[in-house]
Amino acid sequence: MPVIRIEDIAHVRFAAPDLAAMRSFLVDFGFGVFEHAGRLYGRGRDGRPFLHVTEPGEARFLAVGLRAASLADLETLAQSEGATVEPFGEPGGGHVVRLVDPDGYNVEVVAGQAVHAPALPFADPPRNTAAKKPRLRAPLRLQAAPAHIQRIGHAVLRVRDFRASEAWYKARFGLLTSDEVEAARDVPLGAFLRCDRGDLPSDHHTVFLAQLPGPPGLLHAAFEVAHLDDLMLGHQHLKARGYKPAWGVGRHIMGSQIFDYWLDPFGNELEHWTDGDMFTAADPPQKQTMQALLAVQWGAPHPMLAGRLAPPAGLIAFLMALRLRLARMFRRKHEGNPA
Ligand SMILES: [Fe+2]
Repeated sequence: MPVIRIEDIAHVRFAAPDLAAMRSFLVDFGFGVFEHAGRLYGRGRDGRPFLHVTEPGEARFLAVGLRAASLADLETLAQSEGATVEPFGEPGGGHVVRLVDPDGYNVEVVAGQAVHAPALPFADPPRNTAAKKPRLRAPLRLQAAPAHIQRIGHAVLRVRDFRASEAWYKARFGLLTSDEVEAARDVPLGAFLRCDRGDLPSDHHTVFLAQLPGPPGLLHAAFEVAHLDDLMLGHQHLKARGYKPAWGVGRHIMGSQIFDYWLDPFGNELEHWTDGDMFTAADPPQKQTMQALLAVQWGAPHPMLAGRLAPPAGLIAFLMALRLRLARMFRRKHEGNPA
């Protein structure tokens, strides 16, 4: 039984030395941007006060925000963690419980933020397909523009010990596994975790914990855009502005979403996505291979697999499994011989 069940991800928080450069990027990425108390905020069209925060400082990832259902849930969480419920001194108010996860990441669990009415949905014209032609006498005329960010969808964290992090997040926030990814049989490298909202549909993943090589940090945060045309217009816009593409456009296997990843001026990776899978609490977890994690249903191959000298996905998975097995062995030995 988890302490609480979170409803969704709320925001991601960064520090950056040049807020003007971050502001330009956020506008081009499709956020509504505003400043408050020396911090920069990006909001979407869902009426939530903000989805992305930048504080002045050395460039780094600062925190992930998760949304609890109520203040009562924050009280329950705080009591269980020996933490306190504090007023959340950010636009939209509300309250927060600040926790630190096993890798030292700050987790801000928020509730009671003021929510405005969502902006009118961005134009979503019917699509003509081979099977159905609902768009009649209505020519499609798209305007060049940044994508229209609706909401934040997920964050991907690099973790040192997937099982330890999984246990920590599941016990506190009631997350459910959608897909567990294995480098080899019984050698998990991570999992796509979603919110348990009972019968209500939930995104395929809200948090992805990944035990991948490299320095700790946020691997990316993802923001939902209106639809495929919106995502492609956003891609065109970011390309024209000279930003660095990271991976895309393509359609993932796990989560099925159409994706497009970009780097902000400080090296943080942000994703535009649309048309992802939805599940309820009744849907059982699945196991997937690392090859499926790197592969696409269509579109740009993962950067690791692009180029003429790219290693085969099977070799990457084999080396990853070896690395994870060694880490597991080392941990067991270490736990067995507390020095
Ligand atoms: Fe993603």
